[in-house]
Amino acid sequence: MADKVPSTRLNSGYDMPMLGLGTYNSFKPNEMGDAVKAAVQMGYRHFDTAWRYTTEPEIGAAVKELIQEGKIKREELFIVTKLWVQFHEPDQVEPACQKSLEALGMDYIDLYLIHFPVACEDLEITKPTSTDYVDTWRAMEKLVDKGLVRSIGVSNFNQQQLERILKLDGIKYKPANNQVEISPYLHQENLVQYSFKNGISTTGYSPFGAPGQNYERNDAPKILEDPTIVEMGRKYKKSSAQVILRWGIQRGLVLIPKSTNPSRLAQNMDIFDFTLSEDDMKAMQALDRGYRSNVHFFTMWKDHPFYPFEK
Ligand code: A2P
Repeated sequence: MADKVPSTRLNSGYDMPMLGLGTYNSFKPNEMGDAVKAAVQMGYRHFDTAWRYTTEPEIGAAVKELIQEGKIKREELFIVTKLWVQFHEPDQVEPACQKSLEALGMDYIDLYLIHFPVACEDLEITKPTSTDYVDTWRAMEKLVDKGLVRSIGVSNFNQQQLERILKLDGIKYKPANNQVEISPYLHQENLVQYSFKNGISTTGYSPFGAPGQNYERNDAPKILEDPTIVEMGRKYKKSSAQVILRWGIQRGLVLIPKSTNPSRLAQNMDIFDFTLSEDDMKAMQALDRGYRSNVHFFTMWKDHPFYPFEK
């Protein structure tokens, strides 16, 4: 089943499975570890975490168990984690990476991302600092040379910020990946195309508009209930979630829907036996409305020069 998931070749030479499991927003003990074990059985090989999600230890423990049971080998997995905003100072980057490695119980990370372009003093991100992400990037490059990480990239960077890194004097490694929010209501087409042109892959997070965190908010559109998508699902005999994931894969994106529910985990993996027609891809195009489901967390950064979103 794992073979069903296509990969994208990163500019670092490594292959990244285009469907992975997002692991944000799971705080019940064992919930994410159990999901990882179930997901591996279903063919998931790519797991996306972050130091800030606090799921690294559970993911690491689940992977260790699976390896000990002979169900998977470390080299068959693709593990992504992220440098938190508190550790952007160049001399803090390697210790932060070491902390993630320790929490995961692994001796390398497949892809290590700068979580946000803005650095902060505090965990709660209320005290942004002026640390420049290009200095952080140079420290990230050293992690590759030390063999701690195989590929490096960024998350929540806009085009101008990617451009600044690409134009860095003496850049050794280009970002292999930029992980940003992408959903039927937020296509990010310009950023995706710019990234393709520059050899940077794009991962889309919150493909369904983060139902777990947002759907209860009155102003949050319920993307999974969008009539165009529901109707398409009927036509292909697939759920709205499957239509959305298929659309993303056909755009050449990597996607990391989060689920801890076994039937939804299986559903999200079952998207490689159908293709959206050109007309349906066009109909999806018409749904774009620049809606960010996660932006409300970051309003306190609005006046920071590295704020990555539209003001
Ligand atoms: P659950 O973990 O109970 O399955 P996003 O990736 O956009 O942030 O969305 C994650 C949320 O979407 C989680 O709350 C998850 O809940 C839910 N979810 C994941 N897969 C599906 C699916 N196939 N259908 C409906 N909801 C889903």
